[in-house]
Amino acid sequence: MTPPGRVTVVEVGPRDGLQNERGFVPTGVKVAFVEALADAGLPVVETTAFVSPRSIPQLADSAEVYSTVRKRPGVRYPVLVPNEKGMARAIAAGAREISLFTAATDTFNLRNTNATVEESFGRFAPVLVRAKAEGIRVRGYVSTVFGCPYEGRVDPAKAVAVAKRLFEAGCEEVSLGDTIGVGVPTQVADVVGRLRETGVPVDRIALHLHDTRGTALANVVEGLREGIRVFDSSAGGLGGCPYAPGAAGNLSTEDLLYLLHGMGFETGIDLSMVARASRVLAETTGRPPVSRVYAALQGASEKG
Ligand code: HMG
Ligand code: MG
Repeated sequence: MTPPGRVTVVEVGPRDGLQNERGFVPTGVKVAFVEALADAGLPVVETTAFVSPRSIPQLADSAEVYSTVRKRPGVRYPVLVPNEKGMARAIAAGAREISLFTAATDTFNLRNTNATVEESFGRFAPVLVRAKAEGIRVRGYVSTVFGCPYEGRVDPAKAVAVAKRLFEAGCEEVSLGDTIGVGVPTQVADVVGRLRETGVPVDRIALHLHDTRGTALANVVEGLREGIRVFDSSAGGLGGCPYAPGAAGNLSTEDLLYLLHGMGFETGIDLSMVARASRVLAETTGRPPVSRVYAALQGASEKG
């Protein structure tokens, strides 16, 4: 592995986490959560999603959340956008960075967005034109990269083709989503290796791991070995995807940071401040964070 250096952690809890909460988290609590995460040093906080409020009522207050958050200089605040309407709403709220999302499998994409993978690229076209005209940075997500809740194991060539197409369409970075947390390190090496062979620089690839089966950190280590330096995670391990049955939360930011810092990587993030943000949010949701490192930190502080 190349010597430790800088790793960018993309915090997705306020979007991927809160989209899956049973109850509606009050707008002010969401805003405070985003601000606490940025204050902890997270360089990128995916703030909310401008999707249909009928599909995701939990984030129906996205415009208010986005425009209310106090923006910390140097921190990026991307938002999820599914189509032209979402793009218009995101720009109206002041967003300067968006994430488009599609999948490696049609069945999942249809359930998630009412569009096949092919159709999703048709929706993206006008969004990408507008992003280019207005200088808005675009990230792409490919869901179900290693496995699909409806179609089972996914052919890596299919996932690679979708990621490649997102790059060609104008995405600066593509995040490979293990939506239901089924991937293992050999699959990470395979997909990342194939993408690199197509000429994609590894610094434009991110990993977005859900930790359903406890393989997320092993996949991070494999990603690091492959040269990946951007990882998505959620504070406390919040999350899941409402259209992916069985999807647990994202890899927790606390667990990811513990691993990275222990291995000598720099992130610029204060782990204890992330844990504090998770604790404050848990006081509202009533659900204790699932992060192991969070639990270990609480145990240590209880013992004094
Ligand atoms: P649709 O029903 O096909 O859309 O939904 P439509 O264009 O036919 O419009 C239907 C209605 O929705 C219309 O309203 C539109 O105006 C409205 P009506 O005229 O009936 O009153 N509408 C919107 N309203 C607000 N904002 C919008 C918007 N678009 C249409 N942007 C659509 C298609 C994509 C909109 C819908 O299916 C949707 O919002 N899906 C989002 C689902 C979602 O957010 N899933 C979770 C995020 S993805 C994820 O978690 C995976 C990831 O984490 C990576 C991984 O883990 O793998 C990223
Ligand atoms: Mg996700």
